[in-house]
Amino acid sequence: MAVTKLQNLVILGTGGTIAGQAADPSDNIGYTAAQVGIGALLAAVPALDQDGPFITEQVAQIDSKDMSFAVWVQLAERVNHFLAQPDVQGVVITHGTDTLEETAYFLQAVCQPVKPVVLACAMRPATALAPDGPQNLRDAVSVARHPGAQGVVAICAGTIHSALDVQKVHTYRLDAFSSGDAGPVGYVEEGQLRLLRNWPQAQKSPLTIEKVAGLGALAEWPQVEIVMSHAGASGAVVQALVAHGVQGLVVAATGNGTLHSALEAALWAAQDAGVKVVRASRCTEGRVLSVPGQRIADSQGLNPVKARVALMLDLLAENDERP
Ligand code: SIN
Repeated sequence: MAVTKLQNLVILGTGGTIAGQAADPSDNIGYTAAQVGIGALLAAVPALDQDGPFITEQVAQIDSKDMSFAVWVQLAERVNHFLAQPDVQGVVITHGTDTLEETAYFLQAVCQPVKPVVLACAMRPATALAPDGPQNLRDAVSVARHPGAQGVVAICAGTIHSALDVQKVHTYRLDAFSSGDAGPVGYVEEGQLRLLRNWPQAQKSPLTIEKVAGLGALAEWPQVEIVMSHAGASGAVVQALVAHGVQGLVVAATGNGTLHSALEAALWAAQDAGVKVVRASRCTEGRVLSVPGQRIADSQGLNPVKARVALMLDLLAENDERP
């Protein structure tokens, strides 16, 4: 009987705890992230032997707290390169949990993939007594192999999250991510997907990878910073950032986008001076519902870190349109 050959699945390594090593196997926190290469991570999951063929590539080897624009651009270029090949079914990316949601949002925005791009992570290092990375990697492969899967998603502890909604919500628990009000895309159970809603759809994005491809160094990106409203807030940080030449500000506002009056006055002044200001909420659930007459635009449901990525892409698109 003829055996149907599966298409290639590309596994890109970027580091993170999933590739972390500790001196003591019982130590789940005192480890060094980004030590184990992508080939070894794959080899540690013998159950994946039946799910190949795989193409592996180490795009970066970093703790994701140090994620940079240069790595994002390189990653997006590799994703697009592989997805353009007809014999590639999808891409799995191993990534640290700390900035996973930003990378997911960035890749969805600039790549808008119609094939699956699945971010896999872990909360325990590869050397742990009971590491979670191997199961997460196996689940990521199940997602990427699923017929009809598309867009950028993250998998953690058996739950599939859309790039648009995923957020790290716990510092230690293995099930560290949530999709908030939107709920997960679905679950992976013993290699089978139980889907609850649609895959992330390609959206109108201000910039595609072709436009960001040439950009690498921090200096080439618009400076967009995040400030927070809190008890006793002042306008000092905003004023300092404006004096420094910031082009965009995202404010992590309280509740439904409310701002301390002193901070709000400084943000209005920044906006009047030409700085783009966006209002997100510091709440982990819900979205800012705009009240008519508000002078600062809301983040369209994005949390502060994703709103920052969106604002950077908007500013890049604007700069691009200038003669
Ligand atoms: C990282 O984000 O690279 C380290 C932390 C983690 O992956 O959980």
